[in-house]
Amino acid sequence: MKKITIAIDGFSSTGKSTVAKQLAAALGYVYVDTGAMYRAMTLFAMQKKLIGEDYFNKDQLISMLDKVHISFEFNEALGFAEVYLNGENVENAIRTLEVSQYVSQISAISEIRQQLVQQQQQLGKGKGVVMDGRDIGTVVFPDAELKIFMTASPDTRAERRYKELLDKGEDISYKDVLENVKSRDYLDSNRKDSPLIKANDAIEIDNSKLTLEQQFKTVLKLAKSAIEMENKKAN
Ligand code: DC
Repeated sequence: MKKITIAIDGFSSTGKSTVAKQLAAALGYVYVDTGAMYRAMTLFAMQKKLIGEDYFNKDQLISMLDKVHISFEFNEALGFAEVYLNGENVENAIRTLEVSQYVSQISAISEIRQQLVQQQQQLGKGKGVVMDGRDIGTVVFPDAELKIFMTASPDTRAERRYKELLDKGEDISYKDVLENVKSRDYLDSNRKDSPLIKANDAIEIDNSKLTLEQQFKTVLKLAKSAIEMENKKAN
């Protein structure tokens, strides 16, 4: 059976990673969370005190890029690959609101995007991959056989993210989460390098009113028909 590449792009907190993980598990594909890579890079900049509330030492960060090693390791118990920064598991450390507040500045830097896009293309080169992010269908894998673009209203997304962070014990307000969602939408969509846009051939899914199960069923159906089509072409 010929495997395909599945690109899932969209705004923050649209549930891309939830559905991408489910899909990868159902198809026996590899799941790659590219947002986790930009988040790990952000955590590195924070650890080195290169970014903070009122400073950002961009040039120094660029000069240190060869010291940043981001990798994934499959966690059997969780059923997906966790992200590592220079050998340390940072899967939880990258999900804080503080990292979310700086990540759009970090992901706007072309040198960083080049390095991470190259790594992402390497990770997906054997096909059989579900990759989620902002530029997967436009830049990383413009030839992906299936492209999905996920949307939901800012309020729906902020509510989801707020609950998630509260469950993790973060001391945050709903207002701050909503502001972060809106400001990342703006920054991610308006940066010069690889802004978040829907690829012409992407299928848009607004999941504001879908349950997780409905969303998964919709995406699985699309994936199965894309795989079938590729296999028909190959025969
Ligand atoms: O998917 P996420 O919310 O974890 O992503 C964090 C940030 O990383 C997001 O605000 C924009 C950036 N990002 C990006 O620029 N390109 C990607 N392919 C993935 C994420």
